[in-house]
Amino acid sequence: MFAREGSRKPRPRIGTELPNPGAPPTASLREWVATSRLAGVVRPVYRYLEVPAWYLTGRRSVPPHMFKQKVLRSYARRYRLKTLVETGTYVGDMVWALRRDFATIHSIELSEELYEKARARFSGFEHIHLHHGDSREVLGQVISTLAGPALFWLDGHYSGERTARGPVVTPVMSELAHVFGSDRAHAHVALIDDAWEFTGARGYPAQEELERSLPPDRGLSFSVADNIIRITPPDPLS
Ligand SMILES: C[S@@+](CC[C@H](N)C(=O)[O-])C[C@H]1O[C@@H](n2cnc3c(N)ncnc32)[C@H](O)[C@@H]1O
Repeated sequence: MFAREGSRKPRPRIGTELPNPGAPPTASLREWVATSRLAGVVRPVYRYLEVPAWYLTGRRSVPPHMFKQKVLRSYARRYRLKTLVETGTYVGDMVWALRRDFATIHSIELSEELYEKARARFSGFEHIHLHHGDSREVLGQVISTLAGPALFWLDGHYSGERTARGPVVTPVMSELAHVFGSDRAHAHVALIDDAWEFTGARGYPAQEELERSLPPDRGLSFSVADNIIRITPPDPLS
């Protein structure tokens, strides 16, 4: 599936555990897959086995990328969203995985090197628009071009080696202000990765602070599951 999958998530995050007691056995395996010289051969197989392994070990570690892809697809289906906006392109794996699920994809990356690599990777895809810059500025410009509601995958933050670090560790507060702040905001859905980081420490706002920053009059729901913060408008199916 990931025919051109290079390295995956930034290495320091691979095997990162949720703050639950007891490290699941998948942690050391993930680390080995990330660093092994056999990684190119092993990784595609591992990608598929990672999801059942994660379930079998009680969903205690950071969810596998394929699981996150599934979550994004399920929100797109439920809210009938045909546009995806991602902050933090990294190597473009989420864009690649969802390239057939959306009519339009925008992805914003702060690192010039990663942006250029992603541009090369997606050069033949007219519906994929890559943007270089800090999402705190670029996201507003992207949103102003949207004709309808979109699914936002807010994942643009410093993540260790190879990744960019802007003036703030995570631009998420500005991102949320862009997504839900405008008076004419569409019924956007926002998913924020790495929920466990949002403790109010190490440059991350607390989850409560994120929730408090949302406009109170839009009927937005705020929930957290499987390490993903989910901000949704009133459910179209209820
Ligand atoms: C965790 S990785 C993204 C992974 C990707 N979204 C995925 O699902 O495969 C985070 C990326 O955000 C980028 N980044 C950091 N700060 C940013 C900012 N202010 N604006 C845009 N991108 C940023 C980093 O360079 C890094 O490539």
